Amino acid sequence: MSEKRSTLDKVMEVSLRRGLVFPTAEIYGGFAGVYDFGPIGSFLRENLINFWLNYFVKTEVDPPVYLVSGGTVLPFDVLKASGHVDHFVDPVVECPECKTEFRADHVIEDATGQFVEGLDEQELTRIIRENNIRCPNCDSELADVTIFNLMLATKVGGGKGKVAFLRPETAQIMFLDFKRTATSMRAKLPFGIAQVGSSYRNEISPRKGLIRLREFEQMEIEMFVDPVTLNDQPNFAEIEKVKIRLLTREGQDKEPQEIIEITADEAVKQNILPNQYFAYYLAKETVWYTRCGIPRDKFRFRHMKPEETPHYSGGNWDLEIELPRGEKAQIVEIVGNAYRQAYDLGNHAKHSGEDLSIDQDGEKLIAHVVEPSFGVDRSIHCILEHCFREKGIDRDWIWFKFPNVIAPISVEIFPLMRKDGMPETAKQIYTTLKKAGFNAIYDQAGSIGRRYARADEIGCPYCCTIDYTTLDDNTVTIRDRDTMKQVRVPTIELIDVLRQLLEEKIEFEEAGQPV
Ligand code: ATP
Ligand code: GLY
Repeated sequence: MSEKRSTLDKVMEVSLRRGLVFPTAEIYGGFAGVYDFGPIGSFLRENLINFWLNYFVKTEVDPPVYLVSGGTVLPFDVLKASGHVDHFVDPVVECPECKTEFRADHVIEDATGQFVEGLDEQELTRIIRENNIRCPNCDSELADVTIFNLMLATKVGGGKGKVAFLRPETAQIMFLDFKRTATSMRAKLPFGIAQVGSSYRNEISPRKGLIRLREFEQMEIEMFVDPVTLNDQPNFAEIEKVKIRLLTREGQDKEPQEIIEITADEAVKQNILPNQYFAYYLAKETVWYTRCGIPRDKFRFRHMKPEETPHYSGGNWDLEIELPRGEKAQIVEIVGNAYRQAYDLGNHAKHSGEDLSIDQDGEKLIAHVVEPSFGVDRSIHCILEHCFREKGIDRDWIWFKFPNVIAPISVEIFPLMRKDGMPETAKQIYTTLKKAGFNAIYDQAGSIGRRYARADEIGCPYCCTIDYTTLDDNTVTIRDRDTMKQVRVPTIELIDVLRQLLEEKIEFEEAGQPV
């Protein structure tokens, strides 16, 4: 029976069982579109965010990227100015019989394979009628398509209160904080503002897993640039030879679709990508997601068609990942890359009356914005599916091949036997590792083989066993998850050796004496 289940089902099962991801309010039947990260999943999430912060924010010197952390409830006026009140909508179609609501464009795409994003409600209703598309749930006739704003509205204050919204993207905070950040940090263009935090969208049909949630987390950067220097990214030379996989608008219209592989440098020279700042992020995303465990040939950047390009954008390329789904692969967007131009600062200046121009060497200008917008939950979902390894291929249990940098638990500590002082020594080592900052687990239950299997199941890269030899000569074994090989190292060197292994500074074979 287990072999018939999809990777998604298997990943969801192990996620629940091993504390990666839980449905929110599960004891009340769950709450569609909202998930909790459990004790193991929280470390995965934390590691992923830290890896992102290190790679995209903290190590960026010129231009600098400043981190902010903003409010999640925003007043009506902000979202009116940003265009979300008027434009942040999806088409919805309801089944009058079973009362289920669907994204109208998704129902049509699933039934006909036709790509219809961006069409208005009349056109979508016509396509549904012409193709006799019926309720995917109960096969009844569907109602007419209507338009639905995705923001979650609330009221703040006493009495009737004032309409406010839970933010639909973290980005608005960076525009609202632009002026204060520039003055407090004495920043000149170019500079970036980044944020990691929750966003909320009243998605019509949240699906299984972490792909379409109503509360989710984004990691976003708004890079503010003088428009005349968009092709002068100071670090471009570092990434210009990175090859990126692009699905252009022409490539999407071919049958089969054609992906091109091109260096960041060439993509700008040939005017395929709008500018160097934009290409810089596509190259860095390519490197970063590969290091997160997504095979390079399973993702590409797709140029959005004009009808699906957001209202603020002068060009959007989505990083899309292919997920294993039997015969038909599912494609999921996990990063939206947008050239937002002067749209946001210009609109907020107009609506608020604040001068949001910046003085650049005596000249006042409105900065242009290049934005990579990453989804934490979608990234984690794709990493879980791509790092998942089936039972029966190289071992008799399922496991996750998480890269060390994001693995939720770095090391598990096992006493070989529950006697002769082994548990005491193992606990001492475990305590030392925890105090040194390792995410570690102590496990003394069951056979050593079962314990290795349990550690593999949460993708722990190294296990350390305390055995009779430890009691004799103060050495322990380290077992490597991927190869299942073991080496023996002096206990006194354990912290150092583990750090070098986790940071991939040494090969496993160099770590100690082979066992
Ligand atoms: P989709 O078309 O799939 O709804 P989107 O184009 O609306 O996605 P963006 O507005 O570009 O997504 O948001 C930027 C990123 O935020 C996405 O690439 C994704 O990683 C994340 N994201 C957006 N909506 C959701 C959601 N409902 N659940 C989880 N992550 C989301
Ligand atoms: N900030 C881009 C988005 O969330 O759509």
